[in-house]
Amino acid sequence: MAKGFYISKALGILGIVLGVAAACTIIALSVVYAQEKNKNAELSAQVATTLPTTDQNKPTATTPTTTLDQSKPWNRYRLPRSLVPDSYQVTLRPYLTPNQHGLYIFEGSSTVHFTCQEPTNIIIIHSKKLNYTDIQGHRVALQALGGAKAPEIDRTELVEVTEYLVVHLKSQLEAGVMYEMSSKFQGELADDLAGFYRSEYMDGNEKKVLATTQMQSADARKSFPCFDEPAMKARFNITLIHPHNLTALSNMLPKGPSTPLQGDPTWHVTEFHTTPIMSTYLLAYIVSEFTYVNMTETMSTNQNVLIRIWARPSATAAGHGQYALNVTGRILNFFAQHYNTPYPLDKSDQIGLPDFNAGAMENWGLVTYRENSLLFDPDSSSSSNKERVVTVIGHELAHQWFGNLVTVAWWNDLWLNEGFASYVEYLGADHAEPHWNLKDIIVQNELYRVMAVDALASSHPLCTPAEEVNTPAQISEMFDSISYSKGASVIRMLSSFLTEDLFKKGLASYLQTFSYKSTTYLDLWEHLQKAVDQQTAIKLPQSVKNIMDPWILQMGFPVITLDTKTGSISQKHFLLDPDSVVTRPSNFSYQWIVHISSLKNGAKQADTWLEGATKTEAMFKTTNEWVLLNVDVTGYYQVNYDLDNWKRIQNQLQNDLSVIPVLNRAQVIHDAFDLASARQVNVTLALDNTLFLINETEYLPWQAAVSSLSYFKLMFEGSEVYGSMQKYLKKQVTPLFRHFETVTGNWTKRPENLMDQYNEVNAISTACSSGVPECKTLASDLFSKWMADPNNNPIHPNLRSTIYCNAIAQGGEAEWDFAWEQFRKATLVNEADKLRAALACSKEVWILNRYLEYTLDPNLIRKQDATSTLSSIAGNIIGKTLAWDFVQINWKKLFNDYGGGSFSFSNLIQAVTRRFSTEHELQQLEQFKKNNMDTGFGSATRALEQALEKTKANIKWVKENKEVVHKWFQDHSN
Ligand SMILES: *[C@@H]1O[C@H](CO)[C@@H](O)[C@H](O)[C@H]1NC(C)=O
Ligand SMILES: *[C@@H]1O[C@H](CO)[C@@H](O)[C@H](O)[C@H]1NC(C)=O
Ligand SMILES: *[C@@H]1O[C@H](CO)[C@@H](O)[C@H](O)[C@H]1NC(C)=O
Ligand SMILES: [Zn+2]
Repeated sequence: MAKGFYISKALGILGIVLGVAAACTIIALSVVYAQEKNKNAELSAQVATTLPTTDQNKPTATTPTTTLDQSKPWNRYRLPRSLVPDSYQVTLRPYLTPNQHGLYIFEGSSTVHFTCQEPTNIIIIHSKKLNYTDIQGHRVALQALGGAKAPEIDRTELVEVTEYLVVHLKSQLEAGVMYEMSSKFQGELADDLAGFYRSEYMDGNEKKVLATTQMQSADARKSFPCFDEPAMKARFNITLIHPHNLTALSNMLPKGPSTPLQGDPTWHVTEFHTTPIMSTYLLAYIVSEFTYVNMTETMSTNQNVLIRIWARPSATAAGHGQYALNVTGRILNFFAQHYNTPYPLDKSDQIGLPDFNAGAMENWGLVTYRENSLLFDPDSSSSSNKERVVTVIGHELAHQWFGNLVTVAWWNDLWLNEGFASYVEYLGADHAEPHWNLKDIIVQNELYRVMAVDALASSHPLCTPAEEVNTPAQISEMFDSISYSKGASVIRMLSSFLTEDLFKKGLASYLQTFSYKSTTYLDLWEHLQKAVDQQTAIKLPQSVKNIMDPWILQMGFPVITLDTKTGSISQKHFLLDPDSVVTRPSNFSYQWIVHISSLKNGAKQADTWLEGATKTEAMFKTTNEWVLLNVDVTGYYQVNYDLDNWKRIQNQLQNDLSVIPVLNRAQVIHDAFDLASARQVNVTLALDNTLFLINETEYLPWQAAVSSLSYFKLMFEGSEVYGSMQKYLKKQVTPLFRHFETVTGNWTKRPENLMDQYNEVNAISTACSSGVPECKTLASDLFSKWMADPNNNPIHPNLRSTIYCNAIAQGGEAEWDFAWEQFRKATLVNEADKLRAALACSKEVWILNRYLEYTLDPNLIRKQDATSTLSSIAGNIIGKTLAWDFVQINWKKLFNDYGGGSFSFSNLIQAVTRRFSTEHELQQLEQFKKNNMDTGFGSATRALEQALEKTKANIKWVKENKEVVHKWFQDHSN
């Protein structure tokens, strides 16, 4: 699956005890990929508000295992190994109109062939919420194949807790014999986004219904009885019975045109080709009126693959599938070469669903996406939308081999599947958009983002022992940012020190060896090791497994400290909060085997390894040259230096920054601010590291600074420090603003390169918020033009969030009312969301108060948007107190009407308290907790505790830093 959690860097930065504890669950609950990528102002407005970020949102791992009698195999969550499926024949008929009880249902019949490995007198197969129709007095019928005789059925039962159908037999099944078990059943076609479900959407004024699937991780069993574990691979013959004028899709192409159903020609039957051997969680079937655009990609292996992009007819007609069509074939072809393995199927469908909770799902041959992760509308979507489309497609297509052809045997190894796909998605996307530098952006999107979580004492290792992952709830806990982003980061590191060619060699050997089978991560290590052993150019200090173990079996990562006076390097577990206490034991004593690359005055030096706590390298000893470690940030660690070396790096950056690679210019800023949070360097050193920005035009260094300084803004906006901070930023950003003014022909066109487009947004938002006068004029001029001609919005989609916000902040009632009207009229959710967030930017107290009142009126602000709107208002310094008062006064109503159980509720608490940094605010928060004990806090309970902690940490930080920071900004603002 494409991920669907996220954490904003702004919160992670001083990471202390934040609400953003390590794990956040997705599966049924995930949020769009879009919003995780808080990479520029286009998205940031949504990020703070809509994302489930905290642990308490996980489905509680109710593990009644302990109370179940474990001697009974049906009380264990893992299937016994006695039976192994061979193939299934599944026929399903979804009813897209409700039955006489108002219920949407589907009917099905299924036959499974399985082989008995060990004699047994029970058949245990997964089944969830299915009602069976008896066949000869039992839920199932059993036959032996190949002339043997099947035992008689004694009785069957459904075990709800473990989601099994259990068939008790009067005698034993024989080892080596294949059996056939058949059943007929009915299930609800619910709108619960799980298993075989229904999705509804509006086409003009008409409600449309479609049937679709989301099986990962454990919901194929909700569609038909099956051995629903990833290693229980089988072949599937799928048949769909569907309304005659709708299209049926599945993993494979149909055997032929659909045929009328005997007795009722308003229904048709579509039979699909048999699938290859595959896991149940990758099945998909869809019945809809969707239409497509298509092409045939001739792969470099000469194989022809049919590619189709499916969407609502109106979206297809509007050309929104075209971008995806342009890149899908190229990416597929890239992976076939990258893996040196042909694409295993003859078609690849991508379908954009209006109602889909994960970001996307890699079903083999029929990939499902959220609409905004597949469809692209050049008129209203921004560049980051485009980046999302190409990277999500890259991610899902990467899985077609890694994950689908070769599958990790159990969910505890999910990190390998998702981490790998989250790494190579950038390679695939880079192939499709070679001018976008997508390979660099991984450092910001995955590595830095997950470091903010992994540097907390509450983090956890990538690897979880298989026996700790049993229930569906435990499985969903695996889908967190550690699995995705840390997984991606350590695999990138591994590929980097092996070199990509060697990595690809081992990878291809792994994929070819285990095609149609399942593995553990150790199998990949073994094949990489083989590739290493077959050559001599790359030498490792230890085996692949030994090197990787500390990275995957213990949480966190090291900070490497280099002392150039002696040439010594040393490592230490990096913790953002220096007061945190690590209670989780580690077999590696929180040490790692670290590959160290370096630059010395711009020249690349020989790589080295740090295997113990410390060592000395002659090449690192110097008094007059700068040394920089972790070139291009390929290593998953941070770096600190002796003061003199920091000074030399700063001098180099200020004199000629081009000598230092762009990723390392970002690193110097990122790492120094983290080190300052951890009290390993002075905050003034981190600030000194931003001085070179006055000459910087690249996105990544600026973005590192913008996200690092956002914490300063939260703490100091509203205090005297802010004035000098703004002056400093104004000075630094003015050349950048001018640069983009020139590049864009006075803001009339967008820069060519994606990163430049992102940085253009940074330039405008930073320039406007720090008071660059031309920026303010730009915002109000563009907005006035729009107000003069409301049907022709002259503002490019990339710039809308920031221009809207700044124009409304500078404007008054007229601007606000205009934006409000546009918001009410907006038909595109994207556009409506931008306006809704921007409406919170007003500086007028009365306007903000009125807007606050609107949030409680569902006719004005939809219920689902209420808490995120409140959060946006709280994000405005003028709105901070207003929103906090509002929440205190209306807590009961908010709680009762707006779902104390929802994700956004904990985000609300987080958002309104985020700027708290005084004793007075702490007292108010404590009082608030006392006052509302009887109402309760629901899903925000944990967020409230974290807010208290965080406020205390903020008070401490401000106390320690306010004066020095103030003085530093004063000294550097002229
Ligand atoms: C599925 O189809 C294949 C190929 O036609 C066939 O060999 C297999 O027996 C079928 N499986 C079932 C359960 O009918
Ligand atoms: C399919 O046919 C039904 C009536 O049988 C009709 O209501 C529906 O609008 C049709 N849908 C499409 C996509 O043509
Ligand atoms: C695309 O689909 C149309 C309609 O089904 C078909 O006629 C055409 O041959 C297809 N084109 C390609 C390139 O596959
Ligand atoms: Zn994935």
